[in-house]
Amino acid sequence: MSKESTGKPMIVEVDIERPEIDKIRIAAGVIRNGGLVAFPTETVYGLGADALNPEAVAKIFRVKNRPADNPVIVHIADKREVYKLTRDVPIKARELMDLFWPGPLTLVLEKSGIVPHITTGGLETVAIRMPDHKVTLAIITESGTPIAAPSANPAGKPSPTTARHVMKDLGCKVDVILDGGPTRVGVESTVLDLTAHTPTILRPGGITAEELRSVLGSVKIHPAGVKIEVTPSPGMKHKHYAPNAAMIVVEGNFDVIVRKVQELADEHRRGGKRVGIMATSESPAYDADVVKITGSRADLKTIARNLFGILRGFDEEKVDIIIVEGVDAKGLGLAIMDRLERAAGHRIVRV
Ligand code: TXA
Ligand code: MG
Repeated sequence: MSKESTGKPMIVEVDIERPEIDKIRIAAGVIRNGGLVAFPTETVYGLGADALNPEAVAKIFRVKNRPADNPVIVHIADKREVYKLTRDVPIKARELMDLFWPGPLTLVLEKSGIVPHITTGGLETVAIRMPDHKVTLAIITESGTPIAAPSANPAGKPSPTTARHVMKDLGCKVDVILDGGPTRVGVESTVLDLTAHTPTILRPGGITAEELRSVLGSVKIHPAGVKIEVTPSPGMKHKHYAPNAAMIVVEGNFDVIVRKVQELADEHRRGGKRVGIMATSESPAYDADVVKITGSRADLKTIARNLFGILRGFDEEKVDIIIVEGVDAKGLGLAIMDRLERAAGHRIVRV
């Protein structure tokens, strides 16, 4: 079980309300033996291994083809574990843990000696989160070790929000895939650096900047971008979340966005391209080869939940280019726009 490429992974359907203990034990056994398990969390599916076993973590990097300088998040099921994995737990961290854990918030803190450097991409800090998902928590508890888990996709591709996505992307390279249905949040956790002078969001995600500010007062948002060469979060500089099709994101006021989206679609279709439009339920009936609706602009949670699945859907429909309606970068909109802009390789049209 602990080898890579076992041929076919074992796919196990699991009840997300009452995870069956025999199934959890299968997954935990693989983790303890240094193998790889893909599992659901509330955000996206993770590719997990024993965070304290350097050889097991090395497999994650190989299977994902992930650059060695891009550290992975360590998942815990008990807040007290933070004290073992870090040198110092500032009061701000304790407040956030009380308010937002379990949940989609990852805290970057000074690492302790027990965390291998391979897990932290060579950094002296470690990113930790307690996921809000009974299956993930049960696997961690039953494994008896913290679990390192990046999103279960090849580096650079959209994160998986269903077990089918994991199967398509990584299938034979993992030992077990636990299938807990589609994930609830749909975008990854917020990564917050608490080692900086002012707490800094390195990746916007499921917990919003506004929520963090209501607790911490001032919070910076790192001006991340693929063009930045030296960044505090190595994940920022690599191209991310990208479907195979080219992508353009249109930003501005809704009525102007709508006109521009149709104009760009017409232009690319005249150029012989198969065009997809990522629209919202408020949009007019667009004229394009494929139109997909992510949800209502008034309900960003639904848009976030559908985002990666719809990006993958456009690839299945073999479109050449996806024109995307932007949303306001407020609340969950910040994480949505971050993923869209990266997926588009920062091809943004502001109208
Ligand atoms: O919701 C999530 O966070 C999901 C689920 C599976 O938990 N995980 C996830 O992991 O998205 P991953 O590896 O795809 O993204 C982790 C991000 C990367 O951008 C990485 O660079 C950053 O967190 N990160 C990890 N450790 C860090 C550290 N010590 N300092 C700064 N950034 C760090
Ligand atoms: Mg990822």
